[in-house]
Amino acid sequence: MKKILVLHGPNLNMLGTREPEKYGKTTLADINNMLEDLAKELNVTIETFQSNSEGELVTKIQQAYGMFDGILINPAAYTHTSVALRDALLSVNVPTVEVHISNIHTREEFRQKSFIAGVSVGQISGFKHNSYLLGLRALTDYLYCS
Ligand code: DQA
Repeated sequence: MKKILVLHGPNLNMLGTREPEKYGKTTLADINNMLEDLAKELNVTIETFQSNSEGELVTKIQQAYGMFDGILINPAAYTHTSVALRDALLSVNVPTVEVHISNIHTREEFRQKSFIAGVSVGQISGFKHNSYLLGLRALTDYLYCS
């Protein structure tokens, strides 16, 4: 059975409360529960981790080497700033799908640049919390079919 690491970046622990007009009212716990249910259906296992700290996310990615078959990540604000997360993903070379709740390409110019997209299998952006579920399906398909 394939193992997938699900990473949530900074401020995503505030989902449900944080700017609901942009990010909806679904909480991070709701999203993780939906991912767990979908993982069972898709016959994969997931581990979920949220951090507000760039270094903790880098360490978690490094620890994925040899332990996980894929990474599903919403890097949140680090999407637009973090060479360190990009380099960590390049170091471990674990197939990665990037997801965003909002459509970053229709938002402020600084959000339209992703340091992660170029080292990912693909990006899903703009489908609210469903981006995570679509991302898990896409990553699972990639892992079993490529
Ligand atoms: C986000 C988009 C980012 O620009 C923002 O900093 C976030 C959330 C999203 O899921 O839409 O924190 O990654």
